[in-house]
Amino acid sequence: MAESSMRFTDGEAYERFMGRWSRAVGALFLDWVAPPVNADWLDVGCGTGAFTELLLDACAPHSVIAVDPSPEQIVHARSLPVAAKADFRVADAQALPFPDRSFDVVASALVINFIPDRPRGLSEMRRVARPGGVVAGYVWDFAGRRTPNTILGLTARRMGVEVMQAPGTADSTLERLAALFGEAGFTGVESRAFEVTCDYVNFDDYWDAQTPSFNPLTHALNALSERDRAAVKEKTRAAVPARSDGSISVSATANAVKGRVS
Ligand SMILES: C[S@@+](CC[C@H](N)C(=O)[O-])C[C@H]1O[C@@H](n2cnc3c(N)ncnc32)[C@H](O)[C@@H]1O
Repeated sequence: MAESSMRFTDGEAYERFMGRWSRAVGALFLDWVAPPVNADWLDVGCGTGAFTELLLDACAPHSVIAVDPSPEQIVHARSLPVAAKADFRVADAQALPFPDRSFDVVASALVINFIPDRPRGLSEMRRVARPGGVVAGYVWDFAGRRTPNTILGLTARRMGVEVMQAPGTADSTLERLAALFGEAGFTGVESRAFEVTCDYVNFDDYWDAQTPSFNPLTHALNALSERDRAAVKEKTRAAVPARSDGSISVSATANAVKGRVS
């Protein structure tokens, strides 16, 4: 199946789409990585800084640089209070603008699958990490169809909408992530899954959050007639049972990987 491309061009919409998810998985992930305190951090693919803020609150870093190739995401991050504590810059994982051995911890939250040349991106992360340092990341389990958007995507597909695979779907499994890290030369590679559940005040809250303008699925839905789009929405609503107050919960699985630089 063909893969979509996704450019994150709207920081505010990204926050509604993924901010709560990023925070939920990020907290579990940071516990698992167990990074040292007082470390120099690089957050690769920081987006609007949701994970950056978490690591600042949880890990007592010495310094944090956070990079993302999307100027829109960086502009948004710089407008938030987190910008007082982290240095947000536009940069791509495949060409990190830092000298060798600059960081103790290099982390990437929900990013690895989006890097077009993943071996090159991981080799760059390894280059800029210090000996003894840790490089770690997590992605949605796209291959296992366990993402926050899966219910919507599967419903749309069953109703004949052409829904393309997310970029890097084949590399989103625990096995492939561990293999990529091993091939990039990391030692002590470990991987594990985290299951998370997020709440929405009602179904419309979920629908609005999950159909931002930059999501290729949103474009496919917008190409439908109003009647067909409404039908997809109602089928999706039926697939996510609401509580008596109208709120809903959605669960997803993130696959994480970490390795050391020797
Ligand atoms: C799902 S968002 C995750 C953002 C943030 N880390 C979080 O947890 O909320 C994926 C991010 O990866 C970034 N990205 C895509 N390709 C990248 C690349 N080649 N190098 C670094 N980041 C990239 C996107 O611009 C986007 O902000």
